[in-house]
Amino acid sequence: MNLPHGLPAYYDDLALSFEEAWGLIAAGVTNRKSPSHMPVVGTVDGFGVPQLRIMILRDVSREARTLRFHTDSRSIKTEQIGQNPATSVLMYDPAAKVQIRMTGTTHLTATGALADTAWSTSTPFARRCYMAEAAPGTPWAKPSSGLPDWIEGKQPEEEQLVDYRSNFAALLVEIETIEWLYLANAGHRRARWQWDAAHNLWTGDWLIP
Ligand SMILES: Cc1cc2nc3c(=O)[nH]c(=O)nc-3n(C[C@H](O)[C@H](O)[C@H](O)COP(=O)(O)O)c2cc1C
Repeated sequence: MNLPHGLPAYYDDLALSFEEAWGLIAAGVTNRKSPSHMPVVGTVDGFGVPQLRIMILRDVSREARTLRFHTDSRSIKTEQIGQNPATSVLMYDPAAKVQIRMTGTTHLTATGALADTAWSTSTPFARRCYMAEAAPGTPWAKPSSGLPDWIEGKQPEEEQLVDYRSNFAALLVEIETIEWLYLANAGHRRARWQWDAAHNLWTGDWLIP
């Protein structure tokens, strides 16, 4: 197949576009400079309003179809997920000119081996966020990081973090759809893949952009 000059091999190839999509998603874990390192994660609140926020992508398993994020178990998003696990994840890679929209179901994992490992392999600085005395989003009378005074500006020691482990949770988003939009002057390309649980495979289609 002859592609106009400068277009990638996946331009008109659904299977290659799928490979490229997973490559861009996975780059968010291995490359901190990749835009997919900081996707937008959407949940739905009790009023049915979509709530979006940036989260750091910690791990991706293509085999399990999961994206892992870390958060405070007291945060509003965990409450929303408890009521409605439907989740969207959005990323845009300007260099690749690719937008990826995913939908799935989030499993909150606050205890157990996965959350324990995620906690213990995070840096002490990253874990310091979980030392906040009040839940994230709590109204406060004055400007505050929420951290106890004694740890402000310092890196906590391992033993100082032990008591705060219960404030930590891993979120595993099990992906059910992946939508792809590739921007090109020659004509944009849009595709969508859906997980077919009955046949244990992804099915994909091109869409009009
Ligand atoms: C660059 C960046 C990275 C962030 N990473 C995370 C993260 O990994 N986990 C998290 O819970 N919040 C993260 N946040 C904060 C969230 O965007 C959000 O403000 C916070 O989690 C409260 O959300 P909620 O009230 O919907 O629970 C990050 C924010 C920014 C700007």
